[in-house]
Amino acid sequence: MASPQIKEAAGHTGLEVELALEFVRVVEEAAIDSAKTMGLGNAKHSDRMAVEAMRKVMDTVPMEGTIVIGEGERDEAPMLYIGEKVGAPPPPDVRYEAVDIAVDPLEGTNLCATGSPGSITVLAASEKGGLLHAPDCYMEKLIVGQPSKDCVDLDAPVADNLKAIAKSLDRGIDDLVVIVLDRPRHKKLMDDIRAAGARIKLITDGDLSAGISVAVMGTGVHAVMGTGGAPEGVITAAAMRCLNGEILARLVVDKPELEERVAKMGIKDPKKVYRSEDLAPGKHVIFAATGVTDGSLLRGVRFFGDGIRTQSLVMTKDTGKVRFVDSIHVEHGPDFKVRF
Ligand code: FBP
Repeated sequence: MASPQIKEAAGHTGLEVELALEFVRVVEEAAIDSAKTMGLGNAKHSDRMAVEAMRKVMDTVPMEGTIVIGEGERDEAPMLYIGEKVGAPPPPDVRYEAVDIAVDPLEGTNLCATGSPGSITVLAASEKGGLLHAPDCYMEKLIVGQPSKDCVDLDAPVADNLKAIAKSLDRGIDDLVVIVLDRPRHKKLMDDIRAAGARIKLITDGDLSAGISVAVMGTGVHAVMGTGGAPEGVITAAAMRCLNGEILARLVVDKPELEERVAKMGIKDPKKVYRSEDLAPGKHVIFAATGVTDGSLLRGVRFFGDGIRTQSLVMTKDTGKVRFVDSIHVEHGPDFKVRF
């Protein structure tokens, strides 16, 4: 029997070219199904709808995919669990490329459940080994855009970082807006930011989309500071690789059982300060997200008589594309109309 042929268009660049728009389908369908639950007040239900849709479409994508960041360990999540294989089976004698995938099927489950702005469906992908297998714990984060990427330090006082960010953006500290998750654990951080003179945008959830906004110039926000989820941190890093922004991060390993889990995952130094390139080291990185509810970068899903409209962001690092994809999903009735 002939040896299997690896299906790739032009080396690994084929991975980005072939899979980017496939992944848009994945996040779009997850967004449509979860958006149907907007405002129902049931965050778990919203999440489940996103997970089921994402899982279903993932299996139509031509790839040998492995979930490396997902809904949990195999025994605690029925779908999109860590280690799960996803992708369409290849034809005989063809082998698809191995792809590692990090998913957050619905980022901001409460935002969707309450109809608040900023929930998205999101995934990141890379060649095998291209994304850190981070545990589901907290992570300290400092996220900035390209001009500020080399002048911040996770361990520096907040005032020093704000001074450096302001200088890199050629503006005063009082012209900076810092996004912080509204949590009691951030009381001192907020006091420090206020004392330094910067303004704060408090968010109830969703530090991943917040991180993307700061790396896109002109959004009016300049840094994300504070502690959020580590899985979201890895997916943010994938976005930073595509946008040339930066996330500085450190796992919060504060319980013995977590120490054990981190060691088992092969992380030798749990106190390591990671940069985007450590969290998402892949040469080829794909990031895809669709708005579920309206946000600062992406509009939410809109349902109208003849169809559904979605807005997505899909980025590929090596091929250097940042695409906003506006899709109309038509219902195939005899009288369907497409509106601008
Ligand atoms: P979910 O989408 O899983 O609800 O997470 C949203 C989120 O706000 C993340 O954006 C953030 O990193 C994390 O939760 C913060 O965790 P916590 O709510 O425990 O402070």
